[in-house]
Amino acid sequence: MNIQNLLSDKIKHAMIAAGAPPECDALIKQSAKAQFGDYQANGIMAVAKKMGINPRQLAEKVVAQLAIEDIADKIEIAGPGFINIFLKSDFIANLNELALKDSKLNLTIANKGQTVVVDYSAPNVAKEMHVGHLRSTIIGDATVRVLAFLGHHVIRANHVGDWGTQFGMLIAYLEKMQNENANDMALADLESFYRAAKKHYDEDEQFAEKARNYVVKLQGGDEYCLAMWRKLVDITMTQNIATYKRLNVTLSLEDTMGESIYNELLPKVVSDLKNQGLAVESDGALVVFLDEFKNKEGEPMGVIIQKRDGGYLYATTDIAAIKYRYEQLHAERILYYTDSRQHQHLEQVWMIAHKAHYIPESLKLEHHMFGMMLGKDGKPFKTRSGDTVKLNDLLDEAVERAQNLIKNKNTELTDEELAEVVDAVAIGAVKYADLSKNRTTDYVFDWDNMLSFDGNTAPYLQYAYTRVLSVFRKAELAIDSDLNGNIELVHDKERSLAIRLAQFDETIVTVANDGLPHILCNYLYDIATLFSSFYENCPILAAESSNEKQSRLKLAALTAKTLKTGLDMLGIKTVEKM
Ligand code: ARG
Repeated sequence: MNIQNLLSDKIKHAMIAAGAPPECDALIKQSAKAQFGDYQANGIMAVAKKMGINPRQLAEKVVAQLAIEDIADKIEIAGPGFINIFLKSDFIANLNELALKDSKLNLTIANKGQTVVVDYSAPNVAKEMHVGHLRSTIIGDATVRVLAFLGHHVIRANHVGDWGTQFGMLIAYLEKMQNENANDMALADLESFYRAAKKHYDEDEQFAEKARNYVVKLQGGDEYCLAMWRKLVDITMTQNIATYKRLNVTLSLEDTMGESIYNELLPKVVSDLKNQGLAVESDGALVVFLDEFKNKEGEPMGVIIQKRDGGYLYATTDIAAIKYRYEQLHAERILYYTDSRQHQHLEQVWMIAHKAHYIPESLKLEHHMFGMMLGKDGKPFKTRSGDTVKLNDLLDEAVERAQNLIKNKNTELTDEELAEVVDAVAIGAVKYADLSKNRTTDYVFDWDNMLSFDGNTAPYLQYAYTRVLSVFRKAELAIDSDLNGNIELVHDKERSLAIRLAQFDETIVTVANDGLPHILCNYLYDIATLFSSFYENCPILAAESSNEKQSRLKLAALTAKTLKTGLDMLGIKTVEKM
């Protein structure tokens, strides 16, 4: 149940009954201060202006039309025409009860889910995943989890870079290594493999000649080249799948939809764009000129779709991919998780796909872009020697640091439990540090901040969760046991926790719609801090009456359930004890 939507509907109806036009919007927001109630309607002023009447008068009329006695116990008009709404405690308590009983926490689940293609992670073959892919992978995966939870049909599209001219040189180098009997171990270090192949290509003309020959053969479907290519893909993807597992990311091998699968569609797309008059010849290449984009000289920008040597480009593949996703996968919405530098590329691809009538206007295309991961010095995050940081090295360091952090906590855990806690904290901390920042900006990667039990961090939230569980352990109750009695919100701290718990629905909507997981992170952080002050001010097990105790246990149980579900949505593990 979504309180914000409920109030929006009710107030909108009252506005229309008071003479406002049908497209009016109540603009319901959570109030920033308690004195303004729990929610406020900010839409009256704009509508009154359009109607040419006094906003306070309109507000009074709206309030007179409003029938929400079962939801609110006080409605106030403030300032030039704001409407402040104070929710009834019983209404909130009832929402908490419903959430507690329902396996999906009474969240609004889509009746007929949308088919959403989420294009994320997309590492490149024969290269190790680096920090840029980390962002795409974990932010994309959080959105995938939320959309799936809300009942949508999610298709994970891992647009792996597994095709292109670089494969000539990679195949030639793999062949060289095999001839020299180098074992597969050498290949395991993909980064060095790629670098060595490139070095040969640049320095050895005979090798380069062979590499160019292999590109042509590979594109022509030559068995030998294809087998060598597949070997490179398999080795890379085996490593990537292990990394996904380590990262607690839901991508599997079946989600791989690499660039190569569109290869056979490219000639048709290109000839079709040519026949439609969209692609024209320019300097021997085939180019789509877009009036909407201007180059430095102020002329329409050209997007090359086929080079003069016949080769296709990154953009050509993305045009074919979008067509495929609409026609074959029946996508109603496509989300792309790549950094902001690819924004223009995507906009051009979308525009060409529209002009060619490959996709309808109704298909929603969204680029959920993100900024860069920076070091403490404010420069792109690199190793000391200036190399890109390999994802697995980063995670190894996280584990080492988490070990030290947990050791200092001096817990009484078995070795097995300890290892589980360390893994949850290490991976959770790295992921949460990323997810909790607004993805649209660059962010500074700082070990000390993320691996701390204070502040808006994964360990803080994971610890808050275990604290609730320990209350139930002390009470010798299972966390999901049937508690009798009703939730009663008497104390201030009970009420503030309860209302925030009831706002889960309106929180995850922003993740589902805008792919902004930091809103969910902030929400969970609120829940954890509100629980903490509730816990300090409202004795649970030593409550004064059995009713009070049951009510508080229920709030605690819902807190645990909300934290766990929310962290699951972010792909962050919880543990029972730490
Ligand atoms: N492989 C690309 C890279 O590493 C990202 C692919 C993004 N998805 C897409 N459909 N273009 O930059």
